[in-house]
Amino acid sequence: NPDKSSAAIAYVYRGTFVHSTQQTALQVQEDALLGVDTEGKIAFIGEGKKLEALSQVFQFSPSEVTQLTEHEFLMPGLVDTHIHACQYSYAGTALDLPLLQWLNTYTFPVESRFKDLEFARRVYTHVVKRTLTNGTTTACYFASIHTDATLLLGQIANDFGQRALVGKVCMDRNDSVKHYRESIQESHDETCRFIKEFLDKKYPLAKPVVTPRFALSCSRELLEQLGKIAKNNNLHIQSHISENKEEIQLVKELFPESESYTDVYHKYNLLTDKTVMAHGCHLSDKELAVFKETGASLSHCPNSNFSLCSGVLNVRNVLKHKVKLGLGTDVAGGYSSSMLDAVRRTLDASKILTIQDPKHETLSFEEVFRLATLGGSQALSLDDQTGNFEVGKDFDALRVNVAAPGGPIDLIHSEGPKTLLEKFLNLGDDRNIVEVFVAGKKVVPFTEPKAE
Ligand code: GUN
Ligand code: FE
Repeated sequence: NPDKSSAAIAYVYRGTFVHSTQQTALQVQEDALLGVDTEGKIAFIGEGKKLEALSQVFQFSPSEVTQLTEHEFLMPGLVDTHIHACQYSYAGTALDLPLLQWLNTYTFPVESRFKDLEFARRVYTHVVKRTLTNGTTTACYFASIHTDATLLLGQIANDFGQRALVGKVCMDRNDSVKHYRESIQESHDETCRFIKEFLDKKYPLAKPVVTPRFALSCSRELLEQLGKIAKNNNLHIQSHISENKEEIQLVKELFPESESYTDVYHKYNLLTDKTVMAHGCHLSDKELAVFKETGASLSHCPNSNFSLCSGVLNVRNVLKHKVKLGLGTDVAGGYSSSMLDAVRRTLDASKILTIQDPKHETLSFEEVFRLATLGGSQALSLDDQTGNFEVGKDFDALRVNVAAPGGPIDLIHSEGPKTLLEKFLNLGDDRNIVEVFVAGKKVVPFTEPKAE
């Protein structure tokens, strides 16, 4: 019983669609029809055999329907809930130090270079293009402390058509790279300018995010001010929490009045239902309960957690606490900008926990598929717009060809849709992602936006 859509149909796909719902980690629809309207929203989903009736109700020509091949399917776009756009330049290197030493040695010196807008443009263009071709339709970005370069990241994501949350990093404490920090006043004023100028652009798919780097790089006053800015403007918030043990110990020493790391952020109103915190490897059950209570979510970044030897997040336990959770690449602590890698590392992390304790209930690939799509959209509070193929949501999708010529997968037998998805998640890469859509617009393959 299809919903009536007010906008006209722009195009219709016929074939296999896979997505997740709250109830079902993997729902497969074979020989189905999916119509996208001129506003980029999913207008209807129905059975292929009802083509005639649907074409009359929604007024499209059955001859214009695009038929997927037997090795193809549509799936929702991948949601990267945590990625540092400005660290992309050194992704794949500098993985030999633990977090705090890694920040001081590699990260801060590189991030300080983003004062240079031309350098920023080069790196940000690459990261947006690379993540889009890898199927990331929504990305939640950390930039650097530089307002203008961060505004540029928003513009580049918008120009390429990626859905994006974009944060100007705030930090008024940095004892190792002293030129890479702000005063409290500067951080406050530049955050306000960033938000104002970003919102003035009226990008349809990009939003600004209040971004205290993490407790160790922010004074109490700054945390308090950022909590107020987020609240007064009803904005998203992102930061890091409980990533490695040394960090947690230092937070304890710097904020002795707080009961826990979670308590530091909670105290300054930084845990809301629009907050996403990266890592959370070592959170206690009590802290997870605060996440549940406040509606704040976690971004699981397993490549980074392994690469910097930070910890192994027990996703099963997070899910048992009913805390919203998505996956993140955490470039460049994580060396891969592909969400397919995040899916694989999430499965690895879960299996490591099962090796350590056979009673641990290993995550299934279907569950991890949900975390990479619907889970991410929920973690970013964007699930009213994206995350699965519900009628009325924006059409954010990948057209996957598991048997793409020259691609990494050899199909020996003809396989069912569930197996095709499993093979793609475990073995696929961008060669299998033949089209990417965000809000109905085809963004891959892309044409370079014209220079201004
Ligand atoms: N904690 C504070 N800053 C960072 C960062 O840039 N990367 C990671 N992985 N953790 C952090
Ligand atoms: Fe990070």
